Amino acid sequence: ARLKGIAPSILASDFGRLRSQVEEVVAAGVTTIHIDVMDGHFVPPITMGPIVVDALRGVDAVLDVHLMIERPERQLADFARAGADVLTVHAEATPQLHYALGQARELGALAGLALCPGTGTASLEETTDLVDLALCMSVNPGWGGQRFIPTSTAKIARMAAIARPGAAVQVDGGVDRTTIADCVRAGATSLVAGSAVFGQPDPGDAVQELARLAAA
Ligand code: DX5
Ligand code: ZN
Repeated sequence: ARLKGIAPSILASDFGRLRSQVEEVVAAGVTTIHIDVMDGHFVPPITMGPIVVDALRGVDAVLDVHLMIERPERQLADFARAGADVLTVHAEATPQLHYALGQARELGALAGLALCPGTGTASLEETTDLVDLALCMSVNPGWGGQRFIPTSTAKIARMAAIARPGAAVQVDGGVDRTTIADCVRAGATSLVAGSAVFGQPDPGDAVQELARLAAA
């Protein structure tokens, strides 16, 4: 239940005051914090590793770790140890998807499967019993602040139909005041927003406004 609603991505936050920025959105009602891990291989940028997850330990929210890294199965234990509650791997990043998803659960986390915009839903069909969170990327991963790819809403609906009952359906990329309602209508239950939250003058206000639009 705590996975429902807006999941602010700290990628767009001010890292000089990461903890207080996160506490600000939690005070505004957020129950999930999205952490974007990039390795310089699966995507060009390098962002953060387990020590940043560890820095958020004790925050009253689900720590949702989105691994945009090659061969994530090799890193899952370190992120679980750092306090990750959700471990999301990309279908494009490993030939051992069942293994990676099973490993995430064995480590005590929820298992997430992410699909890039150009990737079909076949891998979700093959693994659906192992997937606690199905993530529809609505931009090509790598950077915040990109425009929402319009065909993503139809894909959210397809993924929601495949996901097992009870699984979260997450959308990530370009989610803002203009796109959030369509995502919810299509079946998204978890809405990642970076620039639409931490890029705003008051992240707490921004998140409440997004939550209102998501509920409308
Ligand atoms: C993109 C990341 C997203 C990103 C979202 O590679 O996975 O989580 O931070 O940022 P916005 O909301 O600005 O598109
Ligand atoms: Zn993400």
